[in-house]
Amino acid sequence: MALTDLLLMGRNSDPSSERGVSCDGQLPEPSDPNLVERAIAARAKLGDRAMILGHHYQRDEVIQFADITGDSFKLAQAAADNPQAELIIFCGVHFMAESADILTGPNQKVILPDLAAGCSMADMAALNQVNAAWVYFEKLGIAKQTVPITYMNSTAAIKSFTGENGGAVCTSSNAERAMKWAFEKGEKVFFLPDQHLGRNTAVLKLGLSLDECVVWNPWKPSGGLSDEQIKNAKVILWRGHCSVHGRFSIENVHDVRAKLPGVQVLVHPECQHEVVAAADVVGSTEMIIRTVENSPAGSKWAIGTELNLVQRLAKTHADKEIIFLDKTVCYCSTMNRIDLPHLVWAMETLLADASSGRIINQIKVDSATAAHARVALERMLALP
Ligand code: 13P
Ligand code: SF4
Repeated sequence: MALTDLLLMGRNSDPSSERGVSCDGQLPEPSDPNLVERAIAARAKLGDRAMILGHHYQRDEVIQFADITGDSFKLAQAAADNPQAELIIFCGVHFMAESADILTGPNQKVILPDLAAGCSMADMAALNQVNAAWVYFEKLGIAKQTVPITYMNSTAAIKSFTGENGGAVCTSSNAERAMKWAFEKGEKVFFLPDQHLGRNTAVLKLGLSLDECVVWNPWKPSGGLSDEQIKNAKVILWRGHCSVHGRFSIENVHDVRAKLPGVQVLVHPECQHEVVAAADVVGSTEMIIRTVENSPAGSKWAIGTELNLVQRLAKTHADKEIIFLDKTVCYCSTMNRIDLPHLVWAMETLLADASSGRIINQIKVDSATAAHARVALERMLALP
């Protein structure tokens, strides 16, 4: 993660749900030889009370305990579709756990095993900044024709802003449908917070030109744009990005094609536009997995997404040649915060606290924020 991203993290603190100390009590030592046995025992004791959701970027040591694995869309659906699970232990990052809390019933509790598992991209759009941009659009007279589309990787407060202003959430697996839906409702799209997913969807899926997309910089007056530029744009992109996917470069693509003839480049749409435009296949984490699974033995893939997932694919598909697109190692440091000691700690503490009713590391979105955010999430779940 870049230093600037680290500095940005936490500055835009979101009051809509708790984000504090990582955990209380004693974390098991990572070197504890009984850790796996402890996890198996705690999981068995929790039984049907608990459901463990695991994002594809989680470590192997954690993903082995997930009841459902998926991309952020599939996990949001799983949370919405399992009202019987009283405890949802979310092995992923903060914005995913918030969405699960919004989509589940009042009897269900969502637990994030390490509260420091955030997302630097989500933290790049703060509510006060987004509200200021919207006020500017109102002054220009364009807000009424503008539909906000917010990537799942955003705080609950930004999802709430989106729901309140007629927009929808999207994930990397349905951004095209969400943007088409928005253009049926209005003339412009305000896409938050990932400029790359927004640009890649607008240009490569909807056929807009790069000139029709402008980038709103929240740190500059009037977003660093002239009124003319804003009025002429079809898509106003928030200036946010993923520090993990931003590392893949067009040179990586050229290098791998030169070194490994016949290789196919498979990337996540959070990558930069030139990388996505030069790739053979582009898709969400779930789509990346399906693509590799459905490819013939002997096929060669250079994959541009988080390293835990690429390593797992390489291990699972030893009959195929699977390499990481970048030359250097690139984990998502916040996804990696959920490790086996944190998962064991969370499960054992939930068991120990069962009689007192205390719930550790619960992610709870306040009801006012949740109400509008739920509208934006449900619009996404209802997309054709
Ligand atoms: P997916 O929705 O493809 O799982 O992506 C989530 C994410 O955080 C990618 O960086
Ligand atoms: Fe956020 Fe990027 Fe990590 Fe995904 S990979 S959770 S977008 S920092």
